Amino acid sequence: MKPLILVPFLLLSFIPLSSANDGAPFDYFMFTTIYPTAVCRADDDSVPDSCEIPTGTPLWTIHGLWPNYENGSYPQNCKGTPKHFDADMIKSIAGKMRTVWPNLFPGKSIQSFWKHEYEKHGTCAQSDELFDTELLYFTEVMKVYDSIDIATAMSSIGPSDKLITKNDVLTALTSVTGGNTFQFHCLKDKITKQFLLGDIRICLNKDLTIRSCPGPKDNVWNRVSRFERSVGNGGHQPLPSYQPCPAEFVYLPPEKSSSKSSEPKTSLFGFVWNAIKNVGR
Ligand SMILES: *[C@@H]1O[C@H](CO)[C@@H](O)[C@H](O)[C@H]1NC(C)=O
Repeated sequence: MKPLILVPFLLLSFIPLSSANDGAPFDYFMFTTIYPTAVCRADDDSVPDSCEIPTGTPLWTIHGLWPNYENGSYPQNCKGTPKHFDADMIKSIAGKMRTVWPNLFPGKSIQSFWKHEYEKHGTCAQSDELFDTELLYFTEVMKVYDSIDIATAMSSIGPSDKLITKNDVLTALTSVTGGNTFQFHCLKDKITKQFLLGDIRICLNKDLTIRSCPGPKDNVWNRVSRFERSVGNGGHQPLPSYQPCPAEFVYLPPEKSSSKSSEPKTSLFGFVWNAIKNVGR
């Protein structure tokens, strides 16, 4: 009988301790940055009135980095280590994440957005060894964010109250995309009913070099995939439904910081905003 007792231990020894086999096969990454100013002005019931841009938030913030298939579909909620978001694993980088990957809805915990992105998309990225753990996923996404400076590239066209065109965006971002096609979307302003530039999506190879997004060259940068991620649903982070931008739209300036308080505020946000305003003018 004794040898039988050994069997479970032998089996156990074959279970890999590393997460190298987690995740899912996929073709490329899509990196999405959102424009919080537009999100909080979106005419969309899924955006609560409590939408608030935390002090110190940069002009553009992270939405996520998503493993995608060439056919426009994508894997989601994959086998991961851990399968469920564990806030303890990212304590060392949570400070930076609060700034560049903020939750705009005070009614929800900041972790709820990170949890959603990790469990839905981050677990699928674990087939790529660069993204083998939860900590690596968030660390690498922030590296991508740091390497793609949307705010500076866009500073030649705004933010401003002037109308801009798709070509303006295309030209402004050439410096970061190197001419590769990308996507962007708009949101409708609940006050002015104008269309506002709301997000920018850049495609990357698995080694994180920039590539063109799949699809027809002429319009790929402004289409909404039929596999559009509807993060507004399911009790997750409420974000509005992004839509194709019309011929003209606005890269809306952030609201001037607090007129409620009488003391002049030099927030990091104001500092960044002024610095950006002054570039290229
Ligand atoms: C897209 O491609 C993936 C990977 O090849 C495949 O698993 C999936 O079924 C495809 N989805 C559609 C809708 O074609």
